Amino acid sequence: MAQEVRGVIAPGRDAPVRIEPIVVPDPGPGEAVVRVQACGVCHTDLHYRQGGIGDDFPYLLGHEAAGVVESVGEGVADVAPGDFVVLNWRAVCGRCRACRRGRPWYCFDTHNAGQRMTLADSGRELSPALGIGAFAEKTLVAAGQCTKVDPAVSPQVAGLLGCGVMAGIGAAVNTGNVGRGDTVAVIGCGGVGDAAIAGSRLAGAARIIAVDIDDRKLDTARAMGATHTVNSRDTDPVTAIRELTGGFGADVVIEAVGRPETYRQAFYARDLAGTVVLVGVPTPEMRLELPLLDVFGRGGALKSSWYGDCLPSRDFPMLVDLHLQGRLDLAAFVTETIRLDEVEQAFDRMHAGDVLRSVVVL
Ligand code: APR
Ligand code: ZN
Ligand code: ZN
Repeated sequence: MAQEVRGVIAPGRDAPVRIEPIVVPDPGPGEAVVRVQACGVCHTDLHYRQGGIGDDFPYLLGHEAAGVVESVGEGVADVAPGDFVVLNWRAVCGRCRACRRGRPWYCFDTHNAGQRMTLADSGRELSPALGIGAFAEKTLVAAGQCTKVDPAVSPQVAGLLGCGVMAGIGAAVNTGNVGRGDTVAVIGCGGVGDAAIAGSRLAGAARIIAVDIDDRKLDTARAMGATHTVNSRDTDPVTAIRELTGGFGADVVIEAVGRPETYRQAFYARDLAGTVVLVGVPTPEMRLELPLLDVFGRGGALKSSWYGDCLPSRDFPMLVDLHLQGRLDLAAFVTETIRLDEVEQAFDRMHAGDVLRSVVVL
């Protein structure tokens, strides 16, 4: 039977979010209903609310979540009721060219739940953020979006892996292929950049240079494992990174801001054979002009990182295990836990740069 629960709705462009009763249908073939236990507040949720991602209002926000599978539809074999799971944006197909070539993060045929959740009052269909919609007591997803992890981890920590923290750790470990002894520079130390720092430390980087324009962020970056910090408001970060690396530049530079000036800094701060990893997402009008001779003359690699180039079924359980073993402090990313009705205020704190992550706990 379809059930009614509470969810956080973005009703229209730039309008504050509201808690509304929503209808969650029974899971159809290949689908699962998940009882959400925790869901982090991410910039992308705010972008949805502002109309920056699309016009398919009303949105059901929330997409960094963990919870317990309540029921599954026909043909679902990989998860069962009672399983503790982290949700991911996309269930990869396993059959397309990208999947068969071992790059499932570029899967051509990802899917979300086929049925729609609706507003209880008007019956209007909801658009779930990133195909998840987990600022709700329960949500309907494709079963392939559920990844089982060790239930010994707390839900507020596990949920982080569903988005920003995975993007950052994966940028270092998967895309950048950071190795033992490497020097890594991370430009932009919000949640994503800090996760890239934690990932670099995990991968054995010898030196991790954190760059930001906000001293508060540099303090946190140090706690996450940065060995050096550069405030790029007063110091040119390219010069500083070169000075710290005997003039060569970093082996891996991770850009986690998404602006032309920081893309440029990342491009020039790398060693000639180094790798630039772009994880910050620019806006459509942004441009970067570079001398072609510089593009040609520098070797190494220029890569973008998509969702940390992660394979959820491989990476989520592994990172949870590392956390439980005390080798990766994921709890450090949770600045505060909040209630479902506090999301709007959490957006303000995120906007002011006061938090790494606010996590709704249900
Ligand atoms: N130079 C260096 N750091 C900067 C600059 C700049 N010009 N401008 C902003 N920053 C810093 C901010 O001070 C902040 O610490 O970048 C950080 C951005 O962090 P958040 O706003 O918390 O964003 P986050 O969630 O970490 O995401 C960063 O990665 O996945 C993408 O879409 C995401 O583009 C976004 C980026
Ligand atoms: Zn595929
Ligand atoms: Zn997100």
